Amino acid sequence: MISVSSRLQETKEYYFSKKLREVAQLKKQGKPIINLGIGSPDLAPPQEVVEELIKATQAPGAYQYQAYKGLDELREAMCNFYQTHYQIRLDQDQEVLPLMGSKEGIALISMAFLNEGDEVLVPNPGYPTYQAATKLLNAKLISYDLTQENSWHPEVKALQKLDLSRVKLMWINYPNMPTGETADKEKLQELIRFAKANSILLVNDNPYSMVLTDEKFSIFQMEGAHDVCLELNSLSKSFNLAGFRVGFLAGNSEFISAVLKVKSNMDSGMFFPIQKAAAKALNLDLSWFARQNAIYKNRRSLIWDICDSLGLEVNKNAVGLFVWAKIKSSGSAEELADELLYDKDIFVTPGTVFGDNGANYLRFSLCVSEEKLELCRERLLKPKAV
Ligand SMILES: Cc1ncc(COP(=O)(O)O)c(C=O)c1O
Repeated sequence: MISVSSRLQETKEYYFSKKLREVAQLKKQGKPIINLGIGSPDLAPPQEVVEELIKATQAPGAYQYQAYKGLDELREAMCNFYQTHYQIRLDQDQEVLPLMGSKEGIALISMAFLNEGDEVLVPNPGYPTYQAATKLLNAKLISYDLTQENSWHPEVKALQKLDLSRVKLMWINYPNMPTGETADKEKLQELIRFAKANSILLVNDNPYSMVLTDEKFSIFQMEGAHDVCLELNSLSKSFNLAGFRVGFLAGNSEFISAVLKVKSNMDSGMFFPIQKAAAKALNLDLSWFARQNAIYKNRRSLIWDICDSLGLEVNKNAVGLFVWAKIKSSGSAEELADELLYDKDIFVTPGTVFGDNGANYLRFSLCVSEEKLELCRERLLKPKAV
C-alpha cells in the first residue's frame, strides 16, 4: 500500500472544496441554490485589463518561461499601487515580489521561515489557510482569540502571558476576514512592538483593503513595521481577478529574498500576458474602486435586510467583501447554515469554518447580484415547507 505523508493525515480537505461539491450536487438535482458562501467576485474585471491580456498573448516571447521575480513593469506597478493608495514607498527591485495569489504566499512564507516544531500564532476566527500551511510544515499552531469584546484584535497582554520562546511567526489580517473589522492602528502599533521584542515575524494578509473601506490600510503605515513585518496583497478582490491568480508580497529585502528562494524552486514564473494585464490593473485610478464599491454598498444593504429578517446582528461599520452576522438565537451556526441550505436553497458559510470563536456567526458574501439577493429575501418571507 502506498501511504500519504503523515503531515497530510493532520490536514483536512478545505471546507469549501468539500461543501461546494455538495452544493453542486444539489444544483444537479435541480435545486436553485443561491451561493452567498464564497468570496469569488462575480463582477467583470476592468475592460482595459482584459484587452491588455488579449493583446499580450500575441507578444513575442509571451509563451516562454518568465523571470521568478516577475516583470520589472509589474513590480513597478505594485510599488506604484502602494505609493498611490497607502502612501508607502517600496523599492521595486528588493521590497516587492509578485505571487500567484496571496494564498500561495501563505505557503511560501511558512516554508521560508518555519522549522518543524516552531510555533505560529494564528487568529481564531481566521482564514483557514494559515492553519493548514502551519500543519503541513509540522509547525505548531497556537490559536489566539479574536472576539467581539476585543473588537476582533489580538490582545497583546494575553499574548505576553504565553511561552513565546518557540513562536516564530504571527498571522494577522486587517481589514479582517471574516469579521470585516478595520485596523485599529493603536492596537497594531502595540502588536508590532510586541513582535519586535519577541523576534516574531508579523505577517499582515491584506486582500480586502480596497473593498468598502474609507481609509486604505497597510501595515507599513505603522512605525517599525519594516523591521518585523511582511504584507500580502492581492488582485483577486480589488480587481475581480480571483481566477487570474495574482498577488504580491511586500517587505524588507531580507525577508523578500528568503521567500524568493523558496518560490524560485516551486514555480517557473507567471504567464507573461497575466503579468502585463495585472500591471494595467494596478495602475488604474480611484474611479474603478468607486464604481465597485457603489455596487457592493447596495448589495450589503440588501444582506443587512436579510440578516435582519433572520434575527441576526451585524456591525454596520465593518468593511470588506462579507457581512459577518451574529446569531442571537440558541441554534448553532452550522445548524442555521444547513437550515438555509436545505430549506431555502441559500448557501452561507457557518462561522465555525474560521475557528470556534465563529460558532455564533454566519458569513454572507457580497459576490451575489441584487436580483439574487432580492430572491433570497423573498424566499425567507415564505413559510417553511412542511
Ligand atoms: C483573508 C484571505 N487571505 C487570502 C485569500 C486568498 O486570496 P488570493 O486569491 O489572493 O489567493 C483570501 C481569499 O478568500 C482571504 O479571504
